[in-house]
Amino acid sequence: MCGIVGYVGKHNPKDFLLEGLKTLEYRGYDSAGIALKNNEETQIIKSVGKIKFLEEKVNNSLLIDSKIGIAHTRWATHGAPTENNAHPHCVGKVTIVHNGIIENAREIKDKLKVNFNSDTDTEVAAALIDYYYDGDEISAISKAVTELTGSYAFGILFEDSDKLYAVRKGSPLIIGINDKENYIASDITAIINYTNKYILLEEGEIAVLSAELVKVFKDGKEIKKDVIIADISAEAKSKQGFDHYMLKEIMEEPMLIENTLKPFVEDMSLIPDLKKYSEIHIVACGSAMYAGMIGKALLEEKASIRVICEVASEYRYKKVLYDKNTLVILVSQSGETADTIAAMRKAKEEGADTLAIVNVKTSTIARETDKQIFIEAGPEIAVATTKAYILQVAIFGLLAYKAASLNNLADEVKKLPRYVKEILDNRDLYLKIANEIYKDNDVFFIGRKTDYAICMEGSLKLKEVSYVHSEAYQAGELKHGTISLIEDGTPVFGIITDDDIRDKTISNIEEVKSRGAKVIIVSNKKVPGYDMEVIVPKISEFFQPILVVPCLQLIAYEVAKLRGCDIDKPKNLAKSVTVE
Ligand code: AGP
Repeated sequence: MCGIVGYVGKHNPKDFLLEGLKTLEYRGYDSAGIALKNNEETQIIKSVGKIKFLEEKVNNSLLIDSKIGIAHTRWATHGAPTENNAHPHCVGKVTIVHNGIIENAREIKDKLKVNFNSDTDTEVAAALIDYYYDGDEISAISKAVTELTGSYAFGILFEDSDKLYAVRKGSPLIIGINDKENYIASDITAIINYTNKYILLEEGEIAVLSAELVKVFKDGKEIKKDVIIADISAEAKSKQGFDHYMLKEIMEEPMLIENTLKPFVEDMSLIPDLKKYSEIHIVACGSAMYAGMIGKALLEEKASIRVICEVASEYRYKKVLYDKNTLVILVSQSGETADTIAAMRKAKEEGADTLAIVNVKTSTIARETDKQIFIEAGPEIAVATTKAYILQVAIFGLLAYKAASLNNLADEVKKLPRYVKEILDNRDLYLKIANEIYKDNDVFFIGRKTDYAICMEGSLKLKEVSYVHSEAYQAGELKHGTISLIEDGTPVFGIITDDDIRDKTISNIEEVKSRGAKVIIVSNKKVPGYDMEVIVPKISEFFQPILVVPCLQLIAYEVAKLRGCDIDKPKNLAKSVTVE
């Protein structure tokens, strides 16, 4: 998604703005721009492509003397990724950067008598604020946002004002607080090297920043806001010697699994008891959804609780039947995924209890759900989730274990961190497998029940970081059509950890092998007759997926490396999808 940074203070904003945009690159973008302002003029410089191109243009420009500015990385939604459509946009006396989607841009555009220079909804928003601007900045912003539908986080400059303005709905925005300089940013990573003090801007609030002061207004009145002290240390943002954040974050998994499970092992009463609910809905997107699929399989199989598991973009619009005693579990690393937020709000409107399994404590989902389980993954910088996903899976193991009324958790999980460490150390094997498949164009993952849910994540991880096409299939389903795609040498991962259906899945693997497939077995027991295999220790079914997925994460990483991909920032992807 788009990234916003803004500065007002004692220095020229250029360095903060460019460095801030670089920390937000992981959000995904295709163009970038910066606006500097003084009492005489506003200078706007934009570029398509990576921030380094913008940096070159800025450094080759004669910059105005300025103490205030805004900057933006754009992930194109309305209008192609061109320089003209890049932000900031200026209309009349208003210069703006925007993260989100204005859904009624067309109607507003038709109402305003303005010659628009771009195809963006953002320029329309700037025009609407300018339309209402009569010298009172807060009034102009309030009137304009009242008319807008959709989502937005705006950073705004006015020609006649030496202050920086910010307002948001649906897209996150924070206000960084420092000595004689203040900032706005889409998330904490952009300001953490300057200050650890920040304010969370809530929906409907307007922030007014000068070098000395930050004021926040709601319904025209100034309100008091708590200043939060961030707990992100600078080294948490560095790669700590690893080639990529993705690898660093995978290697953190043993320690994080131990830290996340420890409080619950010491006091199982901390694990919410799901047995009191007659029905559970698990709602999420992408990898978080696949963690939810594992949760569904475990809760149904081991605790006999009826569970539906649905992608949020469907759940938010479909007819959902709510029992009188339904729990809706929202799974989200960022806590800002637009579809998952909408699903959460739908569940709340229907009177269901809501539980978040979430990483970012200050996120919208963390703040609006009834209860939360925080996965304590720390900042996850790589776009492709690894450590956050595995901790989501661990939490579902705990929930199912508690719901199954078992009480020997300590013994079940005490070996987990060591086993995961041993599995991660086996990198030569994953590199060998990656060398076997990185030139292939179609890779299949097959499994049944919980193993199928693992296949979904293994397939997505491979696709999103290496751009190799892949499909996950229920092992028994392949023969109903897709097996026609299996050719000589087609790589097929067979995931087999469930003894109840081991033989069935092996038969399906035999079916593809007999058609020439290059089979890679990932299992907790050796399967005779296959030379490419990853064997992991056999442990409690509640936590077995935690030993399988790291192998698939590292294989995906090695394939992406062999293919020379931009591993931490895969093309077209964003870390947090804050628009529909
Ligand atoms: C990340 O690897 C995934 N590609 C992506 O699907 C992600 O899991 C999804 O967008 C949900 O994000 P969230 O967990 O922040 O809600």
